[in-house]
Amino acid sequence: MNKVFFGDCRDTMRDLIAQGVKVQMCVTSPPYFGLRDYGHAGQLGLEATPAEFVAAMVEVFALVRELLADDGVLWLNLGDSYNAAGRTGHGTRQGFKQGTNRASAEKADNCRPSVETLKPKDLIGIPWRVAFALQAAGWYLRQDIIWHKPNPMPESVTDRCTKAHEYLFLLSKSERYYFDQKAILEPVSPNTHARLSQNVQEQIGSERANGGAKTNGNMKVVGRKFDPGAGNKNNPSFDAAMAIMPDERNKRSVWTVPTQPYSGAHFATFPPALIEPCILAGSRSGDTVLDCFFGSGTTGEVAGNLGAQLDRL
Ligand SMILES: C[S@@+](CC[C@H](N)C(=O)[O-])C[C@H]1O[C@@H](n2cnc3c(N)ncnc32)[C@H](O)[C@@H]1O
Repeated sequence: MNKVFFGDCRDTMRDLIAQGVKVQMCVTSPPYFGLRDYGHAGQLGLEATPAEFVAAMVEVFALVRELLADDGVLWLNLGDSYNAAGRTGHGTRQGFKQGTNRASAEKADNCRPSVETLKPKDLIGIPWRVAFALQAAGWYLRQDIIWHKPNPMPESVTDRCTKAHEYLFLLSKSERYYFDQKAILEPVSPNTHARLSQNVQEQIGSERANGGAKTNGNMKVVGRKFDPGAGNKNNPSFDAAMAIMPDERNKRSVWTVPTQPYSGAHFATFPPALIEPCILAGSRSGDTVLDCFFGSGTTGEVAGNLGAQLDRL
């Protein structure tokens, strides 16, 4: 079922659009601005300025938008980088190639761009620049999900924190779109169970601050006595609903997913666990999932595996 097309994704997508192809969702990670040279003609990410990179991303994702079903979504993973201190020129053009291990990753990381309009050491802010440009181009910017990396690349910095996150933007083509929230519910935390199992009505609650100067009673953990006159929502049926302890809750917007060692000869591959929720929420079994920056093909592998699992159910 997987189809892999080689070439500049802009040319490929124009061909697919001409053939009338439609996809339900796209999940992708473009080359990051100025980070590394993948060593092939027409590659993106080596633009001289953030503005040029953003313009290239807008061009790419306009094509994705044409391929996307009207109720489709785009999950876009982007990381940020810092403006080089005291260097001139574009680092990636100094001949560094993609590598296969941490040493070469660090070497690639050292070839950061130097943007004249920014000060040395400035965070470039590429993810949000791209996100706002896509919003201006018509996309609905629905969410900034933080990909929290519990095993970030060590950094020898002493004047800021070690970077341990990237962004995963959820964008949609239309105001209403296909999103299977139930497919990605997560287990509730033990704290939630403890809180919901308290007998709120019998609680006295803690004293208010400022010597109890406020007169509207002691503070409780959740819930208030039902007062029809006050119009509050905590009536008996609310409390009954609270007494049913859910096992699952809506997925939160911070996703903790470890990075994985570079597989084979490829850099910056998706950890499968990062994109599984994207595919589960954004598509049904049998739908077509697009990754226009396919790299080592993680998206194809994960979509194929999930499709096979769902078919077995
Ligand atoms: C961050 S990597 C994506 C890795 C991928 N998510 C994976 O799991 O392997 C970006 C990829 O985009 C490719 N690329 C760069 N410019 C491209 C272009 N114009 N068309 C298609 N792919 C391009 C790079 O060669 C690289 O493989």
